[in-house]
Amino acid sequence: MNYVVSHSFNSLENLTEITLLEQQSFTSPWNRESLELELSNPLNLITVIRSSSEVEIIGYSLTRILPPEAELLRVAVRPQARGVGVGSVLLSELLQKLLTLKITQVYLEVSEKNRPALSLYQKIGFTTTGHRPGYYDNGSTGAISFSLTINF
Ligand SMILES: CC(C)(COP(=O)(O)OP(=O)(O)OC[C@H]1O[C@@H](n2cnc3c(N)ncnc32)[C@H](O)[C@@H]1OP(=O)(O)O)[C@@H](O)C(=O)NCCC(=O)NCCS
Repeated sequence: MNYVVSHSFNSLENLTEITLLEQQSFTSPWNRESLELELSNPLNLITVIRSSSEVEIIGYSLTRILPPEAELLRVAVRPQARGVGVGSVLLSELLQKLLTLKITQVYLEVSEKNRPALSLYQKIGFTTTGHRPGYYDNGSTGAISFSLTINF
């Protein structure tokens, strides 16, 4: 499968599709109003991925850019498109883009129960830097902190 990945700052172009992706992907999705704020925040890099045969977005990520560091805030792939490498392509392309933005260190936090995401981050090369007990779900679920040094 061929994919097309594009990056932007401060763009509401994909707001409706990203709102749907959020609803399909998270137990506490960002609503349209929150997304409007995040997508227009000039510090946030928006990355979207499409299959080359479709116009619809099949995945997206949102990354806070604070050179030389960045924080990966969101990654989501459409449920029907999961498990075939879309998330891996999205993150690989994102890392290439971050390098051009002078980012050398990327951080993120993820629920300790989110197996697909834990595997994806490890596969891409992130390493565990910590565990924050009770970070999610009103204190019932811990968070794993990851970081990655970019040096291709
Ligand atoms: C996490 C997520 C983005 C992964 O996207 P994806 O397109 O399915 O990922 P890929 O197909 O590239 O898989 C990457 C790796 O993750 C792992 N993985 C994928 N789906 C998995 C599953 N259901 N169970 C366990 N591991 C899984 C595999 O190790 C895979 O590596 P492989 O190619 O060697 O098999 C997707 O599951 C998703 O959108 N989840 C809901 C939103 C979310 O939780 N986001 C992350 C927290 S912000």
